[in-house]
Amino acid sequence: MNLDWNNLGFDVRKTNAVMVTRFVDGAWTPMEADASFTMSLNPYALVMHYAVACFEGLKAFRQKDGRVVMFRPDENAARLRRSAAYLGLPEPPVELFIQMCEECVRRNLDFLPPYGHGASMYIRPILMSVHPQIGLSPHPEVVFAVMGTPVGTYHGSTLKAFSAVIPGNYDRAAPKGSGSYKLAGNYAPTFRPYNIAHAQGYGEMLFLNSGTREFIDEFGSSNFFAIKDGTYITPLSDSVLPSITNKSLQVVATDLGLKVEKRHIPLAELADCQEVGACGTAVVLTPISRIDVKPVLEEAEVTASYRFCEDGAVGPMCTKLYRHLTGIQFGEVEDIHGWCYPVC
Ligand code: PLP
Ligand code: COI
Repeated sequence: MNLDWNNLGFDVRKTNAVMVTRFVDGAWTPMEADASFTMSLNPYALVMHYAVACFEGLKAFRQKDGRVVMFRPDENAARLRRSAAYLGLPEPPVELFIQMCEECVRRNLDFLPPYGHGASMYIRPILMSVHPQIGLSPHPEVVFAVMGTPVGTYHGSTLKAFSAVIPGNYDRAAPKGSGSYKLAGNYAPTFRPYNIAHAQGYGEMLFLNSGTREFIDEFGSSNFFAIKDGTYITPLSDSVLPSITNKSLQVVATDLGLKVEKRHIPLAELADCQEVGACGTAVVLTPISRIDVKPVLEEAEVTASYRFCEDGAVGPMCTKLYRHLTGIQFGEVEDIHGWCYPVC
């Protein structure tokens, strides 16, 4: 495939096939490859008006020795099952989830970036309720589809810090709400404030716990971590998505000799942190240069500003963690924890 592997960005590209299965009469139909990338849905389908859908994001990598692997697909399978259960939808078995992802990678191998460009294939599994219905109750008629698209960097550059804003008049997740599940409906309400934040030059939004607004929760696209005096700290919260990247970085941090603390992080503690980063499958590890607190996103007032590094720079620990994690993914660092699942 003739693509500019160094400048893929984070975009959708039509590939050879999307894998599809449906839940019919209590069982999953044999998976099929669909090359058309179109789907016909009844406009009353539950996904269309009530956002009855959950999804995942994981990556496949072409490694240094030519092998193709997926990073921790069992973890994504378990998380999709948890989201499906929350929505009252049938939970795809772990083996089916992995087979669908594996087959998606195999059929789209031409689109898997070659080793050496820092690029990978982003795999997007989605489970959606397609039953035509206007009443508010779950229905087991679902489509489970898995797509894959070649991607480079989410925020346009590697290991270059950008600023984030805490938008005081927007929350991402309600207390005791669905924030820790990867539901389609959690994301749509962030689009408008994202637009505003981006227009003001911020790369990300950081959300506080919506109940009391005392503690850090997570970014709109990713988890939060900070480095404070040799310790990797990351929020303990019922409202953040349990990030597989964060879970992995906590292990990497320990392997690199850091202490790890998962606990409430009061906003004011940012003043004592040396480095801050966003972590997730899409963003990988992206350093944060500054965090501004704005009572009202649309207005100019900034009540506090925490600075960690210059825009475009990166701290030493973020660099080490990034190199180690991506080193494992690209087969440059020994995968001692068995995180890479071989595809071919
Ligand atoms: N937080 C949110 C809101 C996300 O959408 C994501 C992306 O999946 C993450 C965190 C990071 O999770 P993971 O590392 O499993 O991709
Ligand atoms: C991922 O990192 O896989 C995500 O789903 C993030 C998405 C909001 C772009």
